[in-house]
Amino acid sequence: MNVPFVDLKAQLSQIRDEINLAIQEVIDKCSFVGGPHLKVFEDKFAAFCEAKHAIGVSSGTAALHVSLVACDIGPGDEVITVPNTFIATTEAITLSGASPVFVDVDLESYNIDVSKIEGAITPRTKAIMPVHLYGQPADMDPILEIASRHGLTVIEDACQAHGAEYKGRKVGALGRVGCISFYPGKNLGAYGDGGMVLTNDSQLADKIRILCNHGQAEKNKHTREGFNYRLDGIQAAVLTVKLRHLEDWTRRRRNNAQRYSELLQDVDIITPIEKKFAKHVFHLYIIRLKDRDALAEHLQAHGVAVGFHYPIALHLQEAYAHLGFQPGAFPVAEQCAAQVLSLPMFAELSEEQIQHVIQGIKKFV
Ligand SMILES: Cc1ncc(COP(=O)(O)O)c(C=O)c1O
Repeated sequence: MNVPFVDLKAQLSQIRDEINLAIQEVIDKCSFVGGPHLKVFEDKFAAFCEAKHAIGVSSGTAALHVSLVACDIGPGDEVITVPNTFIATTEAITLSGASPVFVDVDLESYNIDVSKIEGAITPRTKAIMPVHLYGQPADMDPILEIASRHGLTVIEDACQAHGAEYKGRKVGALGRVGCISFYPGKNLGAYGDGGMVLTNDSQLADKIRILCNHGQAEKNKHTREGFNYRLDGIQAAVLTVKLRHLEDWTRRRRNNAQRYSELLQDVDIITPIEKKFAKHVFHLYIIRLKDRDALAEHLQAHGVAVGFHYPIALHLQEAYAHLGFQPGAFPVAEQCAAQVLSLPMFAELSEEQIQHVIQGIKKFV
């Protein structure tokens, strides 16, 4: 038996007719950029995330970048974030002209260690960008409290956390602004690239809309230079169809995660810990162990696809060599990089597939 890491074809087979119809409608209306499908999706996604405004953009990276620019963060500024995230988080910070400042993570949640944030604040710090890694929210209350005490903006990187909850509230609009990715493999994935900016701040929402459309406040009037960061009509239509299924898919992901954890209870491997304040949406199901590389090889030979999220902490990536970090600078993130392994995770994962993964792990252990 082969177990894929993600199975988008299994998802498509449930929704093919709805998707075909939605795409055909956009083509018939020729509303390829902007237009009614985008508006419908933005309204529905804002309601889903309990946010006042949702602005469709071309990717999660674009969402992060435009959010920083809209919050007037740029050259000379520092943005606090974590070293164990996808590079897009820090790319967006650098692209804005600001510098990323890393804070280590905690070993239970793999999210930012809130006790270490204040130590990283300098007179140049402008924002904190927590990442809700793997689909579990960072501990937002202390982050918001520290931010408010130091006059900092909070920009949530919720690119992996569609519909995740912190103390019963959806992530994405807990800070000043939040960013979502609709990369195809995400819990809510487009059929290409896509992203969303969420905010409750109406003025900021207007500014972001203008920035994403070449700084154009009205036709042919450019109040400033912006970007081409718009979301396609076809992607919006696809995402509107998929949004109808998201709660069910999340429920199934959570069940699969629970099943993995139950079956791994007596195995000497660390399984995910769902924090008391969190509803984890299990974009990824992560186990942690010393022999990670050997287990990965063994599982692959057993027909199980696995992932590494992320095997090199950002501060030790060649792209950030100029920052001058040595191994040991962020020991928890480095430990995670050496020990985490992502198991297959998607809503359609069957009991047989889960059993096959577990069998592979148990044989190895
Ligand atoms: C944590 C995180 N931030 C940002 C991004 C960037 O999103 P996109 O690929 O849509 O640009 C991703 C996507 O992989 C991500 O996982």
